[in-house]
Amino acid sequence: MTEDRHYRIPRVLKDEDDLNPSNPSPGATFQDIAEIRFSRRAALKGLLATSALTAVGTALAPLQKAHAAAGESTLKFSEIPHAYDAEFHVADGYEAQILLRWGDKVLADAPEFTPGKLTAEAQAKQFGYNCDFIGYMPLPAGSDNSENGLLFINHEYTIPHLMFPGFADDKAAFEGTTADSTAVELEAHGGTVVEVKKEAGAWKVVDGSKYNRRITLNTEMEIGGPAAGHDRMKTSADPTGRKVLGMINNCAGGWTPWGTILTGEENFHQYFGGDPAGTAEATNHKRYGIKAEPSYPWGKFVDRFDVTKEPNEPNRFGWIVEVNPYEPDQAPVKRTALGRFKHEGAQAVVGADGRVVAYTGDDERFEYVYKYVSNGTFDPAAGVANSALLDDGVLHVAKFSDDGNVDWLPLVHGQGELTEANGFKSQADVLIEARRAADLLGATKMDRPEDIEADPKTGKVYLVLTKNDKRKPEQVDAVNARADNKWGHIVELTPPTKDGKLDHAAAKFAWNIFIQAGNPKDAAQGAKYGGEVSESGWFACPDNVAFDPKGRIWIATDGFPDFGIHDGVWAADLDGAGRAITKHFLGCPRGAELCGPVFTPDGQTLFVAVQHPAEEDESNFDKPTTRWPDFADGVPPRPSVLAIVKKGGGEIGS
Ligand code: FEO
Ligand code: CA
Ligand code: CA
Repeated sequence: MTEDRHYRIPRVLKDEDDLNPSNPSPGATFQDIAEIRFSRRAALKGLLATSALTAVGTALAPLQKAHAAAGESTLKFSEIPHAYDAEFHVADGYEAQILLRWGDKVLADAPEFTPGKLTAEAQAKQFGYNCDFIGYMPLPAGSDNSENGLLFINHEYTIPHLMFPGFADDKAAFEGTTADSTAVELEAHGGTVVEVKKEAGAWKVVDGSKYNRRITLNTEMEIGGPAAGHDRMKTSADPTGRKVLGMINNCAGGWTPWGTILTGEENFHQYFGGDPAGTAEATNHKRYGIKAEPSYPWGKFVDRFDVTKEPNEPNRFGWIVEVNPYEPDQAPVKRTALGRFKHEGAQAVVGADGRVVAYTGDDERFEYVYKYVSNGTFDPAAGVANSALLDDGVLHVAKFSDDGNVDWLPLVHGQGELTEANGFKSQADVLIEARRAADLLGATKMDRPEDIEADPKTGKVYLVLTKNDKRKPEQVDAVNARADNKWGHIVELTPPTKDGKLDHAAAKFAWNIFIQAGNPKDAAQGAKYGGEVSESGWFACPDNVAFDPKGRIWIATDGFPDFGIHDGVWAADLDGAGRAITKHFLGCPRGAELCGPVFTPDGQTLFVAVQHPAEEDESNFDKPTTRWPDFADGVPPRPSVLAIVKKGGGEIGS
């Protein structure tokens, strides 16, 4: 239930490689932690006096700023206690409405959910498995309607022994996988678009809406950007290198200023088997963790998941995919300019000069944080034509310094080490092997980058690092400050200002630690909050974040069950006396993680996804540890999307 919770490797198949990251480049040099902290403080003083970042100087007081007692937070809900049980919990005075469960109808002609008798045909029309990211897109497009809109939802991965009867555990399910069950799993991945409406305080899916759509591993998509059409993107099914069937392991995501969704293909490696070492892509496949023994044995039934047969198919996954939720017939596009790695998600913002910046993290231990900067500028009148900005721009990777600065290094073919001598013949090569390119630039190895998002109110960027229990004392640096980091942390990045606006495209930002998670009562954990947190106010393993209209941060966790405590949501102010003092708002049923938190523009609804309920040892379809949310005999636990509202109305957290 530790790393395999994230990597989704069947526990019994886990080998030492699975427990180790695939980044072989040299680690950080040893530095004494105390010395780093001291030198960082000194450097911060220096930084405040420099001209380039003067305007952001006030952001550089991280934890020393607030030592307020709990209770001074602007968040007025009554905290729930830490727990670990079969139920979903939310603060008193709030209501959790179940909106969509795995198997629920999405398309107008979808059949009823029939547990134990799944078919690919039915699953293709029903809500997929393991809902993750949620995007709320108002209707009509461009409005701020908070009572009618579209939800775009990712379906990250499948858990066969919880989906199908008769398998004691993941090993049995792996061995019992058939062509038919594989076909169901392919349809259970991908994404869903549904129209939703709030009537008399109750959210409902609009049955038969023209927007309702399933995207699966069989949905035809386009490949855009510099890698499109490249030889390394070609397969026997697609000699053009420009068309691909489906998207995989879509974890988190974001949206663009022109109303499209960006969704991140994360752990794509675990679906591909065969003999990766025997292919021309051996070095590439190794760097991304593709092994002869996959987590899903699909290659036995579907040729493209066998790299011996289709060595380039994995090169067509691991991208950011753009989806237009308002146009159900429009093919999604893989935007290769944003690089190929295990994307958590991507969030786009418009910088001071109009260039579009998309922040995106590579979620694996010791991997990197990236941002993409478009060459052209956003034109509000151009609508979705702005999507072209995602095909023409520069991907950068972050190099953090202990002095409180972070440099964004461009990944451009022909510059520095990114030359043919190092195996990069074109920009397509740089993007397909973005990890290896970033290695050569000396990027900073992070503690598993999950969400990285700008707070729409202040423009400051929050980088969520979920944990890294493999970081050794000699690998500690100022931004990843704890060895054996089981708890995770959140880094606050501040762009400089240009013409009075935040310059997201800038080459250098300032950074500071916002929160180091963990239990502050156990000094050995090194937890740091903005002040005293309550008994249930501390958390671990931050993953996705959302910002409410007041500019407060809502943090969802993935991995707190390793501490015997449910995953859920903790919220905090970003400024003032309550800064970085987290309060516990909701908690998941056992085995589940909390994903996709997103607010409606009015802040009166918080949509959340409960992913993999009952994913625990000795839990299976026939005998799950919870049957949430139906609690009916014979009905398995169902990953579900919930709408959280305040009873009687009003802003969440007010
Ligand atoms: Fe799918 Fe990075 O969590
Ligand atoms: Ca995640
Ligand atoms: Ca997660």
